[in-house]
Amino acid sequence: MKVVAGPSSPILAKRIAERLNVRLANATFKRFPDGELYVRIEDVGDEAVVVQSINSNDDLVALMLIFDALENAEITAVIPYMGYARQDRKFKEGEAISVRAVARMIEGYADKVVTVNIHSREAASYFRKLVEVDAMPLIGEHYAGRDVVMLSPDLGSYERVRVCAERAGCEFDYLEKRRIDAETVEIKPKSLDVEGKDVVIVDDIISTGGTMVEATKILLREGAKSVECACVHAVLAGNALNRLYSAGVKRVIATDTVERAVSVISVAEEIARVLKK
Ligand code: R5P
Repeated sequence: MKVVAGPSSPILAKRIAERLNVRLANATFKRFPDGELYVRIEDVGDEAVVVQSINSNDDLVALMLIFDALENAEITAVIPYMGYARQDRKFKEGEAISVRAVARMIEGYADKVVTVNIHSREAASYFRKLVEVDAMPLIGEHYAGRDVVMLSPDLGSYERVRVCAERAGCEFDYLEKRRIDAETVEIKPKSLDVEGKDVVIVDDIISTGGTMVEATKILLREGAKSVECACVHAVLAGNALNRLYSAGVKRVIATDTVERAVSVISVAEEIARVLKK
């Protein structure tokens, strides 16, 4: 068996290969002048673990070409960040369910699919062979022993934050949106008083940073001593990091499902454990 490190996940792929004690396949990735991608994978044998996050359209095309290059090998697709998972239903008539299309492509080639904290149960439901790794305990461990409180930016992420906070051994809550009248919406922690506290806002994804920026402003207004942002997938579109730091965020941390400067926690061990089963 060999690990194929896709162009979006070279560091995590290497970490997984080390834990599995297997070699990385010799892979070439190029771009033609017209923008098309080229993939060549040499000497894989009959079993391949492909590690490639989907954080752009190019990542998706590269993944498809890797699969094709592997021809007759038995393929396990490790997609640490499953992009397109937020379009997990038709919000308007006529829309594509993007994650369904992605699932069909991946499962058309792969015998098994492993991912980390896919965005929703709906997104997961389009896969038949999916194994999911939960990175929330790892983020919790990162904060264990520190005097912090954790907050979910909304009720949707509350369950994830509960898992994270229980591992960290700290209090947790979520930001509740309450309509006061037709013109006024109040957003506050549901029951925690954050005054004078070091707060960690935890979410699955930071994309534009908009959600975290809004939450940070509210928490600083409520008297929080400091605000850190933690997430699994540091998509960080455009100038998201600048926006976060400008809003007063003290620190941003994430896992290595998307490889960024803030990716200080590795999911390699958990993924390797699933692959060994
Ligand atoms: C939303 O459902 C997700 O859990 C994240 O809160 C969202 O994707 C973050 O996006 P952004 O950083 O653009 O606000």
